[in-house]
Amino acid sequence: MRLSFSKVKSVWVNCISHFVTYKEVKMKTTIGILALALSTAAFAAPKAQWLTVDNEILAKIRPKLDKSVQSLFTSQGATVVKLDEREIERLSHLIHHDLNRCGGFIAHESFEEARAAIAFQGDTYFAKSAIFADYAIDQGPIVRPMVNDVSDVNIEATIRKLSEFKTRYYKSDTGVKSSEFIRDTWAGLAKNRNDVKVELVTHRAYPQASIVMTIEGSEKSDEIVIIGGHADSIAGMFGGGGRAPGADDNASGISTITEVIRILMNNNIKPKRTVQFMGYAAEEVGLLGSKEIAAGYKAAGKKVVGVIQFDMTLRKGTLDKDIVFMSDFTNAAQNEFLGKLIDEYVKVPWGYSKCGYGCSDHASWTSNGYPASIPFESTMDDINRNIHTDRDTIENAGGDAKHAAKFAKLGVAFIGELAN
Ligand code: BES
Ligand code: ZN
Repeated sequence: MRLSFSKVKSVWVNCISHFVTYKEVKMKTTIGILALALSTAAFAAPKAQWLTVDNEILAKIRPKLDKSVQSLFTSQGATVVKLDEREIERLSHLIHHDLNRCGGFIAHESFEEARAAIAFQGDTYFAKSAIFADYAIDQGPIVRPMVNDVSDVNIEATIRKLSEFKTRYYKSDTGVKSSEFIRDTWAGLAKNRNDVKVELVTHRAYPQASIVMTIEGSEKSDEIVIIGGHADSIAGMFGGGGRAPGADDNASGISTITEVIRILMNNNIKPKRTVQFMGYAAEEVGLLGSKEIAAGYKAAGKKVVGVIQFDMTLRKGTLDKDIVFMSDFTNAAQNEFLGKLIDEYVKVPWGYSKCGYGCSDHASWTSNGYPASIPFESTMDDINRNIHTDRDTIENAGGDAKHAAKFAKLGVAFIGELAN
């Protein structure tokens, strides 16, 4: 796991970098010169671990660096690499002696600070481009039994119960009750576990609560892996009036998550990282619940390693693709990792499409700097035209949850691999 969110002041090592093409870096150069003038300790004891390195220089010295030195983030002609103290000294030596020059890199005490020095598109750019985990796939003995345990019948039963609420509209009484129902369902599945809690997260501006279930990590509890989906539904001109079964949008996502939870509890899985399941309130009216939660995580400096959003998993709309990743507003490396998980564990065809806008709660995580993906039921061309109407029923989307079961398999694989 290569990630740091600590906010510590920059430490400068060695020569002042030539890497001064950016305003932010230029400003730091001045600070760096002052710091060096005041203290030679900056030369003697480099503490930094994250370096922004000029790409040309990195290319020249890369073959001589230790294999453990990994590139974490590249943008605007520079790359963030993580090195230990000894390697930093070696890098500096190589630049001096092999390239006969100074600098070409700047040291920082956190990954976040390092990437901030080179990224100009804010948290969104970072969330889309950075690599947040090693994405190794090596938990087969844990994952395979869970994948085999997925039951489409369970998912179907939950979808039917959720679609029975007249509406799950965020301002309605039944919208409030349906969130309580999800809370109770998840809590029921976790009743034998004292390391699991299920809470309602209330929102000041509307009555529907979001649901958050937490499995406390056994070893790295500060690192969080999240699977979420929206709990609300909508239909008709003014949203709240009529019937809004929202079977596909998004009883399917919540029911897929519910099956992932059942399997984790059934197999008594105790992940190393903290795992959270979220049912967001008020997605249909502008991602309101997830926006508030993701912004809160950013403000609190929480370390979210990966997020997936299950929004619409019920209807198989595309002939040659079962799972489709929206490539916009999502993290490219994590999307690829999820594709590999499908190849390894789910064994169904997958591909890419685009929403063209921040179409669901994954966008809230992306815009707050976290890596998010949305594995979706079809391409955008083949979407379910019944969503947001009283015709969004299970019968109008195939009549069973066999398609959704593929997403539950991906969900247990995601947790099994990324949270361990
Ligand atoms: N499930 C949809 C998103 C969706 C629809 C994705 C079709 C892909 C294809 C979601 O619940 C939704 O309706 N989102 C809103 C946007 C949101 C910001 C209000 C939408 O798409 O209009
Ligand atoms: Zn919707």
